[in-house]
Amino acid sequence: MKKEIVLSGTRPTGKAHLGTYFGAISNFVKLQDTHECFFFIADYHSLTTHPDAELLQKLTRETIATYIACGLDPDKATLYVQSDLPQIPELYLILNMFAYKGELEKTTTFKDKVRKPGQTVNAGLLTYPVLMAADILIHRADKVPVGKDQEQHLEMTRNFANRFNNVYKKEVFPEPEAFNYGNALVKIPGLDGSGKMGKSEGEGNAVFLLDEEKVNSKKIMRAKTDSGPTEMNQEKPLEIQNLFYLMSTVSDASTVEKFESDYNNCAIRYGDMKKQLAADVEAFVAPIRSKAQELIADEAYLNKVMKQGAEKARASADATMKEVKSAIGLSYY
Ligand code: TRP
Repeated sequence: MKKEIVLSGTRPTGKAHLGTYFGAISNFVKLQDTHECFFFIADYHSLTTHPDAELLQKLTRETIATYIACGLDPDKATLYVQSDLPQIPELYLILNMFAYKGELEKTTTFKDKVRKPGQTVNAGLLTYPVLMAADILIHRADKVPVGKDQEQHLEMTRNFANRFNNVYKKEVFPEPEAFNYGNALVKIPGLDGSGKMGKSEGEGNAVFLLDEEKVNSKKIMRAKTDSGPTEMNQEKPLEIQNLFYLMSTVSDASTVEKFESDYNNCAIRYGDMKKQLAADVEAFVAPIRSKAQELIADEAYLNKVMKQGAEKARASADATMKEVKSAIGLSYY
């Protein structure tokens, strides 16, 4: 049986952190064995808000290296850079005929972005979901692992695909669905006691995979805590729950249990807990960091990976564009 096609993209706008690892990358690593996978760096998408050529180069290479260091295998999954596929902007142009101005203006992410002070409201921001639809439909993907904040874009992708199929009376595009991790969906909290890791702009909120031990442990030691429990088995405030949750992702079960029991007996010393957490985080990220650094230094290897991925992705994109153009009548000879 043909394997289902899974596709996901990441904008090269920031460094990968523990939340990126547990929320996305670790799932990509599992999916590469069961599905036909396309994972790419959405560099065009980053231009709408982060136009910095040098940083783009650095973050794109760093992200690919991090993916591989975390276990993605370029011979299993197709790893590529969006701008290496001219078929994506080509499909984007066509899909723009199926995207209505009103719905683009009503998109939540668009409304959020234009509210940001100093943000120029360029047409690229407005049509961001159309470019994302082109990313997905260019490989006729079945499943798209994305966070909640991207589900509306996926819904729009289905609408554009259906409108295309209806107008040209041909099932060129399947309806892509959000990939559901089921119980495996983990949301890593930030260190500042508020929400998701990486969400707030504050540097202190996230543990980045490629940062040095000192930087990471300093942040963990500064993580928000309270003045400690005063009653046995007291309910934990959110920031303490978060620390325990973080610990459960990187530490042994017995370690977590020890601190749970200390907490429940009002004997917890947050300093000790954080020291342990910092040590376990370091044990977890150290091999990823050193592998990623090795790959970043090996320019020729990363180039080869990107070229190989681009070739595979272009072959798949070409096949789709042939069908698209033939359905539209854009094939004259
Ligand atoms: N919009 C996504 C984000 O900001 C990134 C992205 C671009 C994407 N194209 C995609 C994700 C296609 C999934 C599929 O996170």
